[in-house]
Amino acid sequence: MTNRRKLVAGNWKMNGLGASLSEIDALIAAQPYPTCDVIICPPATLIAQLNWRVQHNKSTIKIGGQDCHDENSGAHTGDISAAMLKDAGASHVILGHSERRADHGETDALIRAKTETAFAASLIAIICVGEIESQRDGGETLNVVAAQLAASLPDQANATNTIIAYEPGWAIGTGRTPTLNEIAEVHDFLRGKLTSRFSDGDKFRILYGGSVKPGNAAEIFAVSNVDGGLVGGASLKAADFGPIVAAAGA
Ligand code: PGA
Repeated sequence: MTNRRKLVAGNWKMNGLGASLSEIDALIAAQPYPTCDVIICPPATLIAQLNWRVQHNKSTIKIGGQDCHDENSGAHTGDISAAMLKDAGASHVILGHSERRADHGETDALIRAKTETAFAASLIAIICVGEIESQRDGGETLNVVAAQLAASLPDQANATNTIIAYEPGWAIGTGRTPTLNEIAEVHDFLRGKLTSRFSDGDKFRILYGGSVKPGNAAEIFAVSNVDGGLVGGASLKAADFGPIVAAAGA
C-alpha cells in the first residue's frame, strides 16, 4: 500500500481581515508537523501578509489561493491570476470548489483550463468534486464525481501537482456529514478512477471536505483512501483547526 502523507487544508472562504492572522500564530507555534502537511487558504488580500508571517517564523505551513482565472493576465477586472497568487507567496490553489461551481457557474472545462494555468505558474491544484443533495438522493453520486474528475483534470495532472478534494455540497457548512462508509465508498471509487488514468494514481492525495470538526476529524481521516481534509468553518479558529491538524497526525 502506498504511504501517502496526510494533509489538512484550511479554506477561509470570504472571511478574514488582517487581525485574523493572529489565529495562525498558535499553528505556527505548534509546528513542526512531522506527519502532516498544513495549508492555509486565506482570502487573496491576506496571502502576502500570511506569507511574511510564515517566512519570518520559518514555518512549514503552506499557503493557497481559493481560485484563479484561466488566463495568465489581461483585461479581467476583479480577477486574480495563478502567477499573482504565486508571486504573493501561494504554492497551492483551490479550483472547482462547489461554491465557485454554484455561485459562478464554473464548468468542468473551465476548471480544467484553470488547472492548466495553475500548473504553468507552478502552483499545486486542489481540485474539488462532489455531488449536491438531490444527486445524492437520486443515487447519482458516483456518476457525478466520476464525470467531474474526468473532465476537470488535465492529462498533465500527477500526484505531485494535483490534490483531489471530495466535498459533498450538502455537507458543506451544514454540520451534516456522510457516514464513514459513504465517505469510504466515494474515496475508494475516486482512487480507482485515478489509478486507471494516471500511472501514479495511487499517490494522489484525496481529501474529504464538508463539516470536518475537531470531534469527527480523527474518524474521518482514518477512513480508507482519506488522506486528510479540506476544512472551511473550523479552520477560522486555531482552537478548532489545531485539534483537526493534530487528528491528521495521530
Ligand atoms: P465546511 O466547508 O468545513 O465549513 O463545511 C468545507 C469547504 O467548503 O471547503
